[in-house]
Amino acid sequence: MVSRVIPVDPFDLVIFGATGDLARRKILPGLFRRFCSGQMPEEARIIGAARSEMDDDAFRQMVADAVREFGGGQACEDGTLDSFLQHVGYEHVDAMGDDGWKGLRARLRPGLVRAFYFSVAPSLFGALAERLRSFKLADDDSRVVVEKPFGHDLASAKALNATLAQHFHETQIYRIDHYLGKETVQNLMAVRFGNMLFEPLWNAQYVDHIQITVAETVDVSGRGSYYDKSGAMRDMVQNHLMQLLCLIAMEPPARFEPDSVRDEKLKVIRALDPVDYHHIVRGQYGADASQPGYRVHVEDERSTTESFVALKCHISNWRWAGTPFYLRTGKKLKARASEIAVVFKDAPHSIFGPDAGTHRNVLAIRLQPNEGMTLDVTIKEPGPGGMRLKDVALDMSFAEALGADAEDVPDAYERLIMDVIRGNQTLFMRGDEVEAAWNWTDPIIAGWNRRGEVPKPYEPGSSGPEDALMLMHRDGRRWRDIRA
Ligand code: BG6
Repeated sequence: MVSRVIPVDPFDLVIFGATGDLARRKILPGLFRRFCSGQMPEEARIIGAARSEMDDDAFRQMVADAVREFGGGQACEDGTLDSFLQHVGYEHVDAMGDDGWKGLRARLRPGLVRAFYFSVAPSLFGALAERLRSFKLADDDSRVVVEKPFGHDLASAKALNATLAQHFHETQIYRIDHYLGKETVQNLMAVRFGNMLFEPLWNAQYVDHIQITVAETVDVSGRGSYYDKSGAMRDMVQNHLMQLLCLIAMEPPARFEPDSVRDEKLKVIRALDPVDYHHIVRGQYGADASQPGYRVHVEDERSTTESFVALKCHISNWRWAGTPFYLRTGKKLKARASEIAVVFKDAPHSIFGPDAGTHRNVLAIRLQPNEGMTLDVTIKEPGPGGMRLKDVALDMSFAEALGADAEDVPDAYERLIMDVIRGNQTLFMRGDEVEAAWNWTDPIIAGWNRRGEVPKPYEPGSSGPEDALMLMHRDGRRWRDIRA
């Protein structure tokens, strides 16, 4: 498939923290792929900024290495990497001091889109924002991009929002949650709001429950010092799973525009009931014969941070009253598999008698891998022998159905960075959304601390702790299998 690529306007993009892990793994290779696709105009410039002393050539070498290692094997014509590097430069800048700021300003050109990507610890956001203004690098048209974690609780998120607000309008602030840039996540909105078929059934009357699973096989080694202070609740539930929940549960926005979409998401978060502590399971992967457990990957050998969370929650509004939403996420699980499953209720009466069994329609939206959608429907088992029913899946892998080459589908980061340049905030979190999400997760974490709750151990390569399975069994339901 040849994707339709609309070039963005010429821009200067400054990446603070340009020598860090995120820049090397995601941001720079993503920009390279957009360059290869023809989306980046000739006048585009990418300026790395960090504390390390290096010149343009040394940084270009680092970028070339990052693209080779993490570029995903993008097929690019010979020489394309060299051409891309011509758009790249570097300035040594001290975020907390005065060094480098004038040099950086001298590199920026008037009249172009100007964006500043804060790929640094949140403790530096304030210093960077303040210097961007005081050294006159940013004006009221400039954009700033900030990474998660956006705070570690409501109070810190409010403080960060307040700090940024001293220097920039909300319309200039792009808070990244890379799950919103994933192809299928956007497809979820297309499926819901582009079709007549699903929306009339999308409510408590017809939906029995919804399951959201984000399962990972990776452990936390290499990022233990960050992760151990965070845990699955702050690292995944407060942001990624919450965003998925919002998109699946929100009312149709009037338009696919930033505030229309974000207003509806915010209403979902605000309508969430507090979670009963019986309805939440924390887990931590243990060791097995071949691999070390969580506590070996972090400094604190008695850590009680969770690497797994499963919970049941309710949204108190007309559409969803009474419909449980089950969420789970964890590291070191049996497969890397993320999906949202909408499980519909049983037909009210079976005309085929008790032997035909009960069958449920399930719409499963797979985020990764093999992005796509399946709809389980009940049909007659072929052949003679009476009316026996069976479920078949109408299966639509997006790549197959659309003839898309996996490499053609932009990675979440590259899509979102191009949205920053376009000035489109639809897929970015607004400050009030982030605060509302913390407002919901804070009491859960505070409850764990108050009760001194220790996470349940689970085996690496499993589906998580037994108690997580019980969370659904108690309700006469079951999790879908975690399958790649
Ligand atoms: C990040 C989390 O935001 O998302 C990581 O900090 C997690 O812990 C990652 O592994 C998952 O992203 P993806 O795109 O691989 O599902």
